Amino acid sequence: MVVGIMGAMPEEIEPVLARLDDVRRHEIADNIYYTSLYGSLDLVIAYSKIGKVFSALTAATMIERFGVDKMLFSGVAGAINSELQIGDLIAATKLCQHDLDITAFGHPYGYVPEGKVFIESDSYLLEIAAIAADKKSISLKRGIVATGDQFVADAGRKEWIGKTFGADALEMEGASVAVVCDAFDVPFFILRAISDAADVDAGFDFDTFLKSSAEKSADFIFAIIDELDKNK
Ligand code: ADE
Repeated sequence: MVVGIMGAMPEEIEPVLARLDDVRRHEIADNIYYTSLYGSLDLVIAYSKIGKVFSALTAATMIERFGVDKMLFSGVAGAINSELQIGDLIAATKLCQHDLDITAFGHPYGYVPEGKVFIESDSYLLEIAAIAADKKSISLKRGIVATGDQFVADAGRKEWIGKTFGADALEMEGASVAVVCDAFDVPFFILRAISDAADVDAGFDFDTFLKSSAEKSADFIFAIIDELDKNK
């Protein structure tokens, strides 16, 4: 089984790479991909750079060039749901693009013809994650994640995204990875640890909590790949 582990920023994959031995480096399309063997799993790891375009490119490259057949994403997110605190882990049940807007043509927000507003995460990977969380006594929340090419630091915008899509958290890559994986029929799982509340303090909180939240997310990704390895 070839498992992709993506992040958007170096801070999101450094804690993953730090746990691996014999890592090989591959340069493709202006990015670096790392491969390593973990138990019986072949891992491919990369940070994409921020945003929907770069993350779509990385996801597609992992699938097409490295034969990734399960995709995991590890990173941080801004909370919309007030029950989510900094450091909490949320697994996306489904994802949408909050900045996709052709409503001028009568379509709903987040929709373009031949696409869909929500892309559902893989139920098997969600189940594996729940088992891993139980075993480690970690609290793993589930919710809808909204993606857009915007760092949201505005209570009004955050509320709009929450109301329009029923979203619990927001970030800048999950839905684009989901679209690519869905198109290639590759099961995916998007994990985020909360770094901020997408409000006026978001920039400061993000800088303060990026490292600790990214490490929490990466830690839990290992619990999932341990479980995948066992169930192989
Ligand atoms: N990732 C983490 N926090 C975020 C925010 N407030 N907006 C967009 N992406 C984020």
